[in-house]
Amino acid sequence: MEIKKVGVVGCGLMGSGIAEVSARAGYGVVVREVNEDLLQKGLARIQRSLSTAAAKGKIAPDEAAQAWERIHGTLNLADFSGCDLVVEAAVENMALKKALFAELDGILSPHAILASNTSSLCVTEMASVTRRGDQVLGIHFFNPVPVMPLIEFVRTILTSDETMAAARQFGASLGKTMVTAKDTPGFIVNRLLIPYLLDAVRIFDEGLATREDIDTAIKLGLNHPMGPLTLLDFVGLDTTLFIADAMFEEYKDPRYAAPPLLRRMVLAGQVGRKCGKGFYDYH
Ligand code: CAA
Repeated sequence: MEIKKVGVVGCGLMGSGIAEVSARAGYGVVVREVNEDLLQKGLARIQRSLSTAAAKGKIAPDEAAQAWERIHGTLNLADFSGCDLVVEAAVENMALKKALFAELDGILSPHAILASNTSSLCVTEMASVTRRGDQVLGIHFFNPVPVMPLIEFVRTILTSDETMAAARQFGASLGKTMVTAKDTPGFIVNRLLIPYLLDAVRIFDEGLATREDIDTAIKLGLNHPMGPLTLLDFVGLDTTLFIADAMFEEYKDPRYAAPPLLRRMVLAGQVGRKCGKGFYDYH
């Protein structure tokens, strides 16, 4: 099965990145948002990112212009009817994702693959509302999508070999390195990342060291690009809490139990870089 046209549901941070890298790889892209304001914001993010990549010489200016031409924004899911692959990157809400999957199943042609960029929700549950369970998988990208070289594929017990082969071809065409995990909460990366981030909040809360020293220790002691508290601010404390809660719900393992401070910071609206305040101040 050859993928020519890609649909992306959601033009937020992840959806806009997925649309951008797909267009840069030569695919026709349809990206859908729920209202005109969010759509224009998402499209502007893509345009900025393409301009920056061109200004830095990462892509030729005409390549950036052609990629931009390949992207079509819409508010209408029916515009996905000609897509061979749809990647859902909407908010992490199972009821919403199931409604989207059921609707898309009715819109897409029988050969099309339906994927979710979810970081923690059950892909099998999304597949269960479609009549194409063998053509459903998780395609999990990392933020920032144009920079991070990894894709995590999530294979359910229903996903066919043909679907995996087509997804691998797609991932390779984006220039990404691919790993495959079973449909279990957190897959590979978050299974290891979430307990680590939660522990960073715990040691900060117990006063082991300052936030700066915790981050410096990991950055320079382990050669990570960001320390854990900076990474929490980057990923979003709300997103991290959501993933931790989903993992705790399924595994009932205290390693995934959110520390009280994390929950309280989210309740207080201190969710990280996107709001200007998390463990650090970005104002
Ligand atoms: N879009 C495109 N390019 C970007 C970018 C973006 N949003 N942000 C940074 N870059 C590029 C810069 O243009 C720069 O490129 P050059 O080196 O070619 O000039 C390069 O990335 C480095 O950027 P900076 O010099 O501005 O800053 P940096 O060296 O601190 O790197 C970073 C920024 C790439 C984000 C780096 O800090 C990093 O890798 N951090 C860790 C990110 C991470 O762990 N992401 C995964 C989060 S987990 C997740 O996404 C999944 C989940 O389920 C929670």
